[in-house]
Amino acid sequence: MIELEKKELSKRSSSEIEVLVDKLIKQLTISEKIGQMYQSGHQYTVITGPIFNASKTVENIRKGMVGSILGMNEPEMIYNLQKVAVEESRMKIPLLFCNDIIHGCRTIFPHNLALSCSFNPKLVKEVSKIAAYESAHCGINLTFSPMLDLVRDPRWGRVMESCGEDPFLLEEYAKAYVEGYQQDDLTKYDSIASCAKHFIGYGAASGGKEYNSVDMSDRTLRQYYLPPFKQAINSGVKMIMTAFNTFNDVPVTANKYLLTDILRNELKFNGVTISDYTSSGEIIKHKIAVNNKDVALKCLLAGLDHEMISTSYVEELEGLLEENPALENNINQSVKRILTLKYELGLFDNPYKNIYQNHQKYLLSEKALNVAYEAACQSIVLLKNENNILPINNQKIALIGPFIDNNNLNGAWGGQGKNSDCETLYEVFKNKNIHVEYSQGTTDEYFEMPTDNVDLDLINEAVEIVKDSDIVIMACGENQHMSGEGYSRTNIELPNNQIKLINAISETKKKIILLVYAGRPLDISKVIDKCEAVLYTWFLGTRTSRAIVDTVLGINNPNAKLTMTFPRTVGQIPIYYNQLNTGRPYDKNNHGDRYKSRYVDIINEPMFPFGYGLSYAKFIYGELKLNQSNANKIDIITVSTVITNESKYDGYEVVQLYIEAMCFTVSRPNMELKKFQKIYLKANSSQTVVFELKYEDFKYYNIDNMNITEPGKYLIKLGTSSVDYKQVEIVLI
Ligand code: GLC
Repeated sequence: MIELEKKELSKRSSSEIEVLVDKLIKQLTISEKIGQMYQSGHQYTVITGPIFNASKTVENIRKGMVGSILGMNEPEMIYNLQKVAVEESRMKIPLLFCNDIIHGCRTIFPHNLALSCSFNPKLVKEVSKIAAYESAHCGINLTFSPMLDLVRDPRWGRVMESCGEDPFLLEEYAKAYVEGYQQDDLTKYDSIASCAKHFIGYGAASGGKEYNSVDMSDRTLRQYYLPPFKQAINSGVKMIMTAFNTFNDVPVTANKYLLTDILRNELKFNGVTISDYTSSGEIIKHKIAVNNKDVALKCLLAGLDHEMISTSYVEELEGLLEENPALENNINQSVKRILTLKYELGLFDNPYKNIYQNHQKYLLSEKALNVAYEAACQSIVLLKNENNILPINNQKIALIGPFIDNNNLNGAWGGQGKNSDCETLYEVFKNKNIHVEYSQGTTDEYFEMPTDNVDLDLINEAVEIVKDSDIVIMACGENQHMSGEGYSRTNIELPNNQIKLINAISETKKKIILLVYAGRPLDISKVIDKCEAVLYTWFLGTRTSRAIVDTVLGINNPNAKLTMTFPRTVGQIPIYYNQLNTGRPYDKNNHGDRYKSRYVDIINEPMFPFGYGLSYAKFIYGELKLNQSNANKIDIITVSTVITNESKYDGYEVVQLYIEAMCFTVSRPNMELKKFQKIYLKANSSQTVVFELKYEDFKYYNIDNMNITEPGKYLIKLGTSSVDYKQVEIVLI
């Protein structure tokens, strides 16, 4: 591959691009137009569904029958395919190279649910810029990220790539991801286009079962699931991917109400819509199409521009056009959007853009690794710290569990990340010259079904080591491949063998610090009482182990807060913080009261609530001060408090502001997150934290499905989690 020229690309205005696209489209044959609507795989495509036959990829490119390529990230291969497109096809239209860069390209950051617990959109934007930089230098033009599915069910394996259960937080992160990837100019050599997914409702799949049906009211859709996509569109996202699921009985990929009425006509999205992997062809299995010709017609009329892997467009649209010439308008619209994106990326001026022969030198930079470390530190959640056992200091440590010498730490959708880039926990202790005795105690099984088999010799070896220590750090959890796509589970407990190991170690009466590696909230109710401290360490990517060790040692003061509720047991699901009060609200101080909204056989609060996370510091909140107890449409409401760090540890605190709407035209949740600030407080210092609220911050979809603020009484709640706060009343007039 020759060393390619990196000439500065001109950023054309949208009207200039429109003229160029109109001129180009007039020169295309019907077949070439339809070719732009097809995303092909290749021999290295990551299969997330039916196997892809790559034998005709190059031939199809040469014939102008391919618009984009899925999942290629090797510059040499990208160069070779692009060369065929721009030198050997008739119209020489460049290909668009799309990839799943979900939480990093080669430098891997905490998976998205973990990183969302940082409550730090600025950090997320920085992470996305680095992911874009590394991706662009591999020749990737667009990433299928951010995933903006609101989630309430940890049985669904893909919660690991979401940003949690709150719509406001999802909006903040949608903006951060899109701006981080795209920056201000897509012709730049360090930015890539962004695709928001999965439009829409995928996170609400019934029963948390992968690809299952979704039903919801229009109000729920607009109040909870649409806001992040709206924000992504307002932030300039260039593509939106359709979800696999049905939405109120109509598959999203062929759903005109969603793809045209809402996305185009209401939200004014003018970018490209793309199906998910064969989700168009799957409408036959959904039983709303009888054959590929039916698929092509239904998806085109619904508003699908670009078909991923399925070939109904390239096989059937030309025939459909002969029967119904009016369809050419639909085709032209889709093709214009696709060509516009290619012009916006500067691919017509330099189709090879960022393909570097020696691209490796642009990956894993010191800056990238430093941000990866910081992101990992800000994603670790301290769930328990009895008697302030953490941080530890010069004690004799026993390191026990399947994750102690394990570098499978990137998590699902780990891009080009390599396990070998990740140090193990044991290595980091050793590199710090901290002596630790260690034993796996059991294996980190990649289990499809729970197993009871334990290796008693391994357990006994671990017990012996523990007896001779002062404190035990246990590293347990689910294997990194046990979350992500295609990994819904009915059992979200730790694997049985690990529970047995924790029980055996607990018998030694040594104090246990439990580290939990997971891509989702796990049910740790069977072990939590046996541990003095629990750090939820997710899968934090390339700098996982350094961040964990520095947290255990107190170099990093944990500061993350949960963005997804942790259930006590799978039977509580769906459980999330912004639930309605019901007509018979459960009273935790009167559990025995039978006729209340509760489960009789369990404490009804979650194991850990939304917004919860401890610190080594001790933050004390003062009384709230409100500048006015009534407010009208033009007032700026300010609410403030003094927060004091009564400890010897400096640290971050995520100050959360919620509202509660007391009585309006629809029943509203007891808690709605509206603002947050992540402040840094030195040891034994105080800070006044001020929030501003405007009338429209109180809006909600009312009985008429109007998104407005209804005058009346509200509570403003300000605190350290969704269950630990102080409140004041305000009346909006
Ligand atoms: C997968 C996922 C989607 C991903 C696409 C391409 O099935 O659902 O999130 O972007 O295929 O890999």
